[in-house]
Formats: sequence, structure tokens, C-alpha cells
Amino acid sequence: MKRYLTTPIYYANGAPHLGHAYTTFVADCYKRFYGLKGDDVLLISGTDEHGQKIERAAAAAGADLEHFVNERSAEFQRLWHSLNIGIDKFDRTTQAHHKAVATAFWQKLADRGDVYLDKYEGLYCVECEQYFTSGDACPVHRRPLERFAEPSWFFRLSAWRDRLIDYIEAHPRFILPEARRNEVLGVLRADALNDLSISRTSTRWGVPVPGDSRHVMYVWIDALVTYLSALGDLESERLRQYWPGAIHFIGKDILIFHGVYWPAFLMSAGLPLPESIIVNGWLTVEGRKISKSDPGTVVDPVALTQVIGNDGLRYCLLKTVTLGHDVDFSRRHVVRLLNADLANNLGNLVSRFIRLVERRCPQGFDFEIDELPGDGAGLLSRIRESASEIERAMAAGDPARAARCFIGACGAVNTWIQQAEPWALTSEERLRGALWVIYQALSDVTILGWCFVPETMGRVRDGLCLGAPAWDDIGVYNTRVRVRDVGPVFPRIDEVDLAGGSH
Ligand code: MSP
Repeated sequence: MKRYLTTPIYYANGAPHLGHAYTTFVADCYKRFYGLKGDDVLLISGTDEHGQKIERAAAAAGADLEHFVNERSAEFQRLWHSLNIGIDKFDRTTQAHHKAVATAFWQKLADRGDVYLDKYEGLYCVECEQYFTSGDACPVHRRPLERFAEPSWFFRLSAWRDRLIDYIEAHPRFILPEARRNEVLGVLRADALNDLSISRTSTRWGVPVPGDSRHVMYVWIDALVTYLSALGDLESERLRQYWPGAIHFIGKDILIFHGVYWPAFLMSAGLPLPESIIVNGWLTVEGRKISKSDPGTVVDPVALTQVIGNDGLRYCLLKTVTLGHDVDFSRRHVVRLLNADLANNLGNLVSRFIRLVERRCPQGFDFEIDELPGDGAGLLSRIRESASEIERAMAAGDPARAARCFIGACGAVNTWIQQAEPWALTSEERLRGALWVIYQALSDVTILGWCFVPETMGRVRDGLCLGAPAWDDIGVYNTRVRVRDVGPVFPRIDEVDLAGGSH
């Protein structure tokens, strides 16, 4: 099955921070999960480089615009690479092929009769690149709104309202979690769905509107089209194959753009809608959203990984940010979580097991399943249940719940070992039976944890002399038990080492 996953297209106006890393880790977690299931998965990311916000940021930095966006975009690409996030294609809105696709897309809306020229006057937040109908300050950026008046091309959004409502009602998995879906339905059902201003004359930094080069396209059309242009032309075979299975991973601040404007644009263009939009909450610092426009909140992901590793960061973010909720980032919590879950629960378990096998059966052994010791079958079936629970959680767009199931399965193996006390068994046959159960349980656990701590699980599989994992291997048991020493699986973190920042 073909799967097409997208991260948001990040604004190229500053350095990437922990909030950006979070959304991208979620997308990569799904890429690994579907990859384990044997799907043909494509993960794309990119940078949103046009519009007034970027133009102002470059001016404030005293930099040439093109040079400025090249640098910012490269920072995002370097970060994904350094965090071991497998982006298959990174697209930039300033690339020629993207501009060509954006132009063709606009043309489709115009051909459909959904685009008309009028004028706009209203309150604008340049940070959001969005008009507001009331208020003095932007609710997200807490900055004063600016009054803009300009001629503008409009998209007949109002005409799509009923079809959007019907579609979202008929497709419960289109927007996840359900609370976000209800939020979008709430916006749509409230009777004021105005047509949308989709061009700007206040900046030249954008894709020219076809047939009216005084205007550039509104950055949100431009950016959303990246999801299509990353696959090729609108008519391309690749787009036809991958697009219908698309899943967008986004933060809650860009829900309306994805849940209302984007499906309306796609319907108007005669293209299928993505399969799902999975919406996460925010990472906050002392209750404030981590944001470039609030420098006191910014946390550098690379500095963190130098102490806790890629897997440490990935795991903390995936396990803590529960679906739909904001979560406060705190270094103390990170240390506690990693030491409890990865160093103790998982790491000690694996090291202890490998040492025990090396001591008692140095060459490994082959085991013919006859009768399992203790409640060995019970443990293995408990782990298979965790696998089903992880599948359900991932399908519900809730990787945090899935991560909890994975670590719960590690805990179950630990409990089983405490009860079975294999180190005290004197009968060779019973000892081998117990070690065999633990070996199979751990093999399954490495598959359960693959999308949350891939480097660590790779190390554990190495220690168990296992090759590449597949989801279908869960519950398929080996007769061979072999181990080798791979050193500490996940080193304990000292709170002092992580005390570098103020949060
Ligand atoms: N350029 C638009 C997206 C266009 S997609 C066609 C944009 N860019 S952004 O750089 O401001 O944000 C990108 C994503 O990062 C959003 O999903 C946003 O929710 C996410 N995050 C930014 N800060 C965040 C946190 N503090 N916490 C979690 N996610 C955060 O919006």
C-alpha cells in the first residue's frame, strides 16, 4: 500500500526549534510504523519561503532575501538529517517547479469559476499571514494586528461550505483527534464563512497570480500546494498513485488552513482530498507556546540531543505530548522519564538478559518448544495484545498512547522475569525455557518500539542477533537463541548534564 506523509511546510524566517522538531518526529514515527508494515511510504517536508513575514525577517537581518531563505531552509534540512528523520523529499516554495505547480493549481480554481477580483480591508497578522475580523491583538502571537487595505483576488470559499460539512461528517477519520474535527465542524456550521482573500499586492515576494502580475498568491495557497508539487505535476503518475493516501501532520494553530481552506481548494481543483489530517497540541514553556516570536521559549533540539541522544529526544516528545493537549517542556521531566523508561525499564532489562545468557549458555542454544515455563505463553500473548493496542492508537492518531503501550510491554517482561527468577533455575531445561520466553518477548518489544526509539531498538536487535524487523514478525517465534554484548542500551542521564538551559 502506498502512503504519503507530510510535515508542515515550515516558515523560513528563523532557526528551527523544539516545536518544529516535535511535529516532524510524529510524522517520522508514522513513516517507520507503516514501513514496518511493509507499506511503500513517502515522507516529505519543506520550507515556506514567500510572503511578507519572510520579507520582513530578511530585512530585519539586513540580508539579501534569496540568501536569507537559502540559509534558513538549509537549517531545517540539516536538522532533520541530524535528528535521524528520514525525509524522502524536501521541497521549497521558491523552487521553479513548485511555482509552476502553484500556477497550474490556481488556474484550476479560476477555470472552475471560484476566483474573482475585489478589494479587501481588514486587520492582519503578518506572523500568521492571516486576516482577522475583530480584536486588537493576534491571539497566537499576542502582537497588535495591522490594518491592511488592498485590491485582492478572492476564492469563493462560501460556496463550498455545505460540501465541506457533508464530507467531514461522512469521513470521521478525515480530521483526528475528534475534538479537532468538531472544532472545524463548529467553524463551518457557524453561518459566517466568508470568501477568502488569496492574493496580495503588499509584497512582490511570492508566486505571481496568473494573468495579473500586480498580485502574488497568498502564501497559504502557495505553501499548501507544496503537498502536491512535492510529488510532481498535477497530472503526474506519482501524484495519482500517492496523493489519495496522504496524511498531513500539523499543529493545532494551522487547523483551519488544513481542515477548511485546503479541502475546499482541492474540491474546487477537482482533486481528491487527503486521507487524514492529524493534529497535535503545542509544546509550551511555562505555559507559553515555544515560538520564534517569543525568544524566551525557544529550545534548541540539537543542544538537547547532545546530552540525551536522538532517541531520547524523540521518545520524550512522542510519549509526552498526548493527543490534542499542550504539554509543558521541562528538563527535569526529561531526565526522570528517560532514566525510568529507557535506562531502567528497557536498558537494564536487555543488559541483564544478555549477561545471563552469556553466562549460562555462552554459545546460545536451540530450543524446541514443548511446554513453556511459568506463564510464558501468557507473557507472549500480553505482548501481542500490546501490538494490537499500538495499531489502534496509531490509527487514532495518538502516538503517545502507542509509546505508553510499548513501554508497558517492557514493564511486563520485567515483571515476568522477577517472578520466573531464571538466574535461580538449576534445571538446564527449565532455564532454557525461561530464557527462550524472554528472548521472544524482547524480539517482539524491539518491533513495538521501532517507531519511537529506532536507534536503540536497532542496538537491542543487534544484541539479540536479529536482522531488520517487520510488524508481521510479532508472534513468530525463533527456535534459535543467540546474543552478543552491545554495551549499555540507553545510558542514564545525569540531571546536571541537562541543566544547560533555563527551562
Ligand atoms: N508555514 C506554515 C505551515 C504551512 S503548511 C502548508 C507554518 N509554519 S510554522 O513554521 O510556523 O509552523 C509549522 C508547524 O510547527 C505548525 O504545525 C506548528 O503547529 C508547529 N509548531 C510550531 N511551534 C510549535 C510548538 N511550540 N509546539 C508544537 N508544534 C509547534 O505554520
